[in-house]
Amino acid sequence: MVIIIGNQKGGAGKSTLTLLLANYLALAKKCELTVMDMDYQQSLAQKYEKAKVLENDEPYQVIAAGLEHFPDMAEVLGQNKNHIILVDLPGKLDDDGLIPLFEAADLVLCPFAYDEFSYESTILFSVVLRKINPDVAIIYIPNRIKANVKYETQLEVNEQLAHFGEISDKIPDRIDVQRTNTQQTQLSVYPVIVPVFSKIFEQYIKPNSL
Ligand SMILES: Nc1ncnc2c1ncn2[C@@H]1O[C@H](COP(=O)(O)OP(=O)(O)O)[C@@H](O)[C@H]1O
Ligand SMILES: [Mg+2]
Repeated sequence: MVIIIGNQKGGAGKSTLTLLLANYLALAKKCELTVMDMDYQQSLAQKYEKAKVLENDEPYQVIAAGLEHFPDMAEVLGQNKNHIILVDLPGKLDDDGLIPLFEAADLVLCPFAYDEFSYESTILFSVVLRKINPDVAIIYIPNRIKANVKYETQLEVNEQLAHFGEISDKIPDRIDVQRTNTQQTQLSVYPVIVPVFSKIFEQYIKPNSL
C-alpha cells in the first residue's frame, strides 16, 4: 500500500507526520514499512543515518530518493503485499514526477494549518491530486494547533476541505512532537497522535494491508 504525505506548503508538518506515522505503524502496529524521503532537504534520511550510527536495530528503512525513482522502487517494494510505503513529498506541485505518485497513492495525508496561506496551498494541492486520482481517500490533519488561539477561519476551511476528503482530530503545537526521530516517538506524544492515527489505521490501512 502506498501512503503519501503531501501539501505544497513548506512547514505544514509533512516530514514530522511521516515520522510520527512511521513510528506508530512500525512500533505500535508491527507493520512492515519503508519511508521514501522525497523532500529536498532530506531531513528524515539525515535523521535516519545519524540514528543508525548510534543504534543497531532500525524499525524501518528511510531511503532518500527523487520523484523519478518512485515507479521502480514501488515495483520492488510492492511485491510484498503487506509492505507499506510512506512517501514524504516535496513542497511543490510543478513536477511531472508527481503524477505516478498521485496515481499510485492508496491514501493521502495532508497536514495543514488554519491560516490563509496554508489554506490556498492545501486547496491547490487537493485540486491537482483529485484531477490525477479522483477516488483516493484524502485525510486533512490540522497541525501545530495552539490551545490558546481562536482560529477564525476554522469552520469555513473545514467546510471547503470536506469537499475533497475528511478532516481528522487536531495535532497540537508541542515541543515533544519536534523531538520525534526515526527510532521513536516520545511517549508523551502518543495521547495526541493515537486518536488521529488509530482511526486512519482501522479504516484505511488495516483493510488494505491484510
Ligand atoms: N505538531 C507540532 N508541534 C510542534 N512543532 C511541529 C509540529 N509539527 C511540525 N513541527 C515543526 O515545524 C517545522 C516544520 O515541520 P516539517 O515537518 O519539517 O514540515 P514540512 O515537511 O511540511 O516542511 C519543524 O521544525 C517541525 O519540528
Ligand atoms: Mg519536509
